[in-house]
Amino acid sequence: MHAESAIDRKAAALAAFKDLDREPGVPKPDPILVVDNVVRRFGGLTAVDVGHVEVQRGSITALIGPNGAGKTTFFNQLTGFDTADSGQWTFNGRSMNGVPAHKVARAGMVRTFQLTKALSKLTVLENMRLGAQKQLGENFWRALVPAVWRGQEGEITDRAEELLARFKLDAKRDDFAGSLSGGQRKLLEMARALMVQPELVMLDEPMAGVNPALTQSLLGHVKDLREQGMTVLFVEHDMDMVRDISDWVIVMAQGAVIAEGPPGTIMSDERVIDAYLGAHHDAPLSESDLAEQLHEAEVALEAEFEEETKK
Ligand SMILES: Nc1ncnc2c1ncn2[C@@H]1O[C@H](COP(=O)(O)OP(=O)(O)OP(=O)(O)O)[C@@H](O)[C@H]1O
Ligand SMILES: [Mg+2]
Repeated sequence: MHAESAIDRKAAALAAFKDLDREPGVPKPDPILVVDNVVRRFGGLTAVDVGHVEVQRGSITALIGPNGAGKTTFFNQLTGFDTADSGQWTFNGRSMNGVPAHKVARAGMVRTFQLTKALSKLTVLENMRLGAQKQLGENFWRALVPAVWRGQEGEITDRAEELLARFKLDAKRDDFAGSLSGGQRKLLEMARALMVQPELVMLDEPMAGVNPALTQSLLGHVKDLREQGMTVLFVEHDMDMVRDISDWVIVMAQGAVIAEGPPGTIMSDERVIDAYLGAHHDAPLSESDLAEQLHEAEVALEAEFEEETKK
């Protein structure tokens, strides 16, 4: 990796976006990911229908949009966790449609999940070692075959321990992943994604459900990824976080990319306002539902906070 400073990388990314049109699908100077006409339908519902979109190399790009816009489904298509009905996309100029998840990961494009997928009956270190082999998809049990570890075991363990130290999980290396707090599981998932030394890291709501004490740490880790030369594409609902860390924002609604632009002004774009106003909202909660949810959230937060401060 280059010895460029973090400031240089951020400045380079911002310079790349400076004179771009703020139009959906706008070409980028040096795209690492180029997507064309990706469609995914579920019965009569078109969950994803993205005409054209590019992700600039070295950027931190946010993917936003109302609930149900198709962000997670879009991630699933690109990373081989689901099969698109049609479309093409290239990563580093290499065609990726039809490539299974573990091969996509090994090619340098990894993702994390909105609902964290740590294997709770495995230790933290074992989870990390699995990350070196493949991403955990439907066939993850195959990765448990010890033969695949032979030969590289030492190297993999070294890298796992180095990453665990960076993410301050080294003290937990022999604990079951199931014993970690929600926030620590998010950290573990991010650390595990880095086992394959990716070039593009796709994070699906990396901060969701994490207590505020850990949010700053997670944000720092996301910024670190770019400082180390990686490209980041992340889904996030919290616009303060989007403004804090992203250089560019891509907005999805009803499966399509409807707007792109810098984080400072994207929320004043008419198309974005309409998309959020027009989005379906869940039925309003009754008072007692609300009270119950609030109580549950408080209990969960307290438990997580205790876990964090115990160390
Ligand atoms: N496996 C599936 N079968 C049927 N419908 C699905 C499936 N997965 C997603 N959908 C539907 O596709 C649409 C897009 O969902 P998706 O989860 O991609 O949205 P999202 O933008 O990630 O939303 P959120 O912000 O709530 O995570 C939704 O209407 C959802 O109900
Ligand atoms: Mg989602």
